[in-house]
Amino acid sequence: MDFSFSSLFSKEVKSVLGIDIGTSSIKVVQLRRERGRVILETYGAIALGPYAGVEIGRATSLQADKLSEALKDVIREANVTTTDSAIAIPYASSLVSIIKLPAAVEKQLAQVVPIEARKYIPVPINEVLLDWFVVSGGKSAAKDGKLEVLLVAIHNDTIAKFRAIAAAATLITSFFEIEVFSAVRASLDHGLAPTAVLDMGAATTKFYVVERGLIRESHIINHGSQDLTLAASRALSITVAQAEERKRKYGLTGMELPGLKQSLELSLSPLVSEVGRTILGWEQRNNQTLGSMTLTGGGSALKGLKEFMQAKVQAELRIADPFGKTQAPAFLEAILKEAGPEFSVAVGLALRRLQELG
Ligand SMILES: Nc1ncnc2c1ncn2[C@@H]1O[C@H](COP(=O)(O)OP(=O)(O)OP(=O)(O)O)[C@@H](O)[C@H]1O
Ligand SMILES: [Mg+2]
Repeated sequence: MDFSFSSLFSKEVKSVLGIDIGTSSIKVVQLRRERGRVILETYGAIALGPYAGVEIGRATSLQADKLSEALKDVIREANVTTTDSAIAIPYASSLVSIIKLPAAVEKQLAQVVPIEARKYIPVPINEVLLDWFVVSGGKSAAKDGKLEVLLVAIHNDTIAKFRAIAAAATLITSFFEIEVFSAVRASLDHGLAPTAVLDMGAATTKFYVVERGLIRESHIINHGSQDLTLAASRALSITVAQAEERKRKYGLTGMELPGLKQSLELSLSPLVSEVGRTILGWEQRNNQTLGSMTLTGGGSALKGLKEFMQAKVQAELRIADPFGKTQAPAFLEAILKEAGPEFSVAVGLALRRLQELG
């Protein structure tokens, strides 16, 4: 019998919802904690293309009313039963930067950071929500004795838009978090060595370096998975919808469709080169090796991608398995592994909310 005091007196079990509003689709993941284990209750995704009059898989830029309509639809379709939620803020709507400060100001960060932030933020400081974390310095001093602070800024209009979307879907939102942090939480295991996360979305690809669980650097690459679809559509003279379908079905493994494989690889090459250059740049600046990189985002579900990239980068590649941090029925294991990378951000949000509830 499993009768611990904590389970006898624990609060009512609470389900939480992570919401990732990407450019091509909205992803939701509902989790609950039970006796210390994280249970996957439901998850779902809805393509935004149809709400914007474009094909599935393509990036959109929709107003709040359309986004809340889509959010309500996916909540219904996935049988979500909770309103306790957390929402990701797109990286592109935020500014994440490492700033270096003299170690002596450690106790006055609340005054110093907003002043220093003006140098990094292109809009008036009173128009943004500022947050910061000390990454290194003080007792764990960096090589040059400086304090390194991770600066995060989100424009007030962005927060207002996401608040409006949540309110229209009658959700209670506990926090907003820049997707960088959610993706990293869900796709990495604890480790000390520097490692990278590559989030391959529809419109853009995001590259993060993480060390001791902290984000050290982040970049956005203007090349996303929709570019592969558009390239295949042009090369094979097929519609975008057909190209999207073939991309998802065959990926880089379609030997019987050589034109498809070739056009996808051609479109991927500049992205892979840029990732390689970004890794190299980091390694040279920090005089350290990035031993591994985790691929996440819907674009990383491309069949044969890992092998194609592995031939071109030194870092050891793996594909994110965010649902691996949750408990689900065994028969779903294979499906969840395959679908997982698309849901990293949503899983990461829900995991943080569960931690907060304790
Ligand atoms: N099985 C698959 N094979 C290849 N590509 C896939 C597969 N499944 C989804 N994709 C691609 O992944 C992309 C969507 O990924 P994701 O949901 O992570 O993007 P997003 O979060 O909407 O975009 P962004 O992060 O850029 O805002 C689409 O372009 C889609 O074509
Ligand atoms: Mg995304």
